[in-house]
Amino acid sequence: MRTPLIAGNWKMNMTIADGVALVEELKAALRGVTGADAAVCVPFTLLKSIADALAGGTIALGAQDMFWEPKGAYTGQISAAMLHDVCCTYVIIGHSERRGRFGSIPESWSDELLDAFGDNDAVVNRKVKAALAAGLTPIMCCGETLAERERGITDEVVAGQITAGLAALTAAQVAGLVIAYEPVWAIGTGKVCDPAEGNRVIAGIRAVVRRLLGDAAADGVRIQYGGSASPDNIAEIMAQSDIDGALVGGAALKPSFAEMVKVAAAR
Ligand code: PGA
Repeated sequence: MRTPLIAGNWKMNMTIADGVALVEELKAALRGVTGADAAVCVPFTLLKSIADALAGGTIALGAQDMFWEPKGAYTGQISAAMLHDVCCTYVIIGHSERRGRFGSIPESWSDELLDAFGDNDAVVNRKVKAALAAGLTPIMCCGETLAERERGITDEVVAGQITAGLAALTAAQVAGLVIAYEPVWAIGTGKVCDPAEGNRVIAGIRAVVRRLLGDAAADGVRIQYGGSASPDNIAEIMAQSDIDGALVGGAALKPSFAEMVKVAAAR
């Protein structure tokens, strides 16, 4: 009943020329493919060119972050309305590479830098609400670090991120949302989380949503897996009962990303 979503996260990669060439290939490869949604979440500087290149096809456009205020004196920030204006459907919010105390941020950074740079759960919640208000679909990320997994607190960490990230949203809003479960230790490492374990955590996320917001929200929300997903493992990921697609980093930079969408569509 939920349409899977395979979303590419290009991160800080691609020139306009390379990005346009890639989406032209993807667009052609996915012509006529139904049964799964596909999206590419590209750097701000590429949005307009990629939007133009995607026109008339089936692949949706997304951004990788946004600011929560609608407009004003926020030098360097991009609002949800601006993303909507450039034809974005999706926006990634709270990726671990933007959550200050996780992921790729160097340990040598001071607390001041981390606080200034990082998305915490409250910031994620503000951004999710602002994205929805502007008509965008957030892809809200959550996931535990290796240290948290080793301490056996994965489920609590993820439940905390979900509870805080969804605060004050309605069931109808959450039903239309995308959540990406991305174990931080699996991102960009080639160490894919065992799909059965990913499915277990994702089923747990759905149970948290059910407890907080009821059946319509829990049955509607799409929950992706992310972390070293690739053409080699997508079939096993998509074979899981609760996984509604994938958020794909490195493997989204190649034309074979289209194969991942086709596997999801064939489920
Ligand atoms: P990866 O990245 O597929 O390169 O591990 C996934 C992500 O960070 O969204």
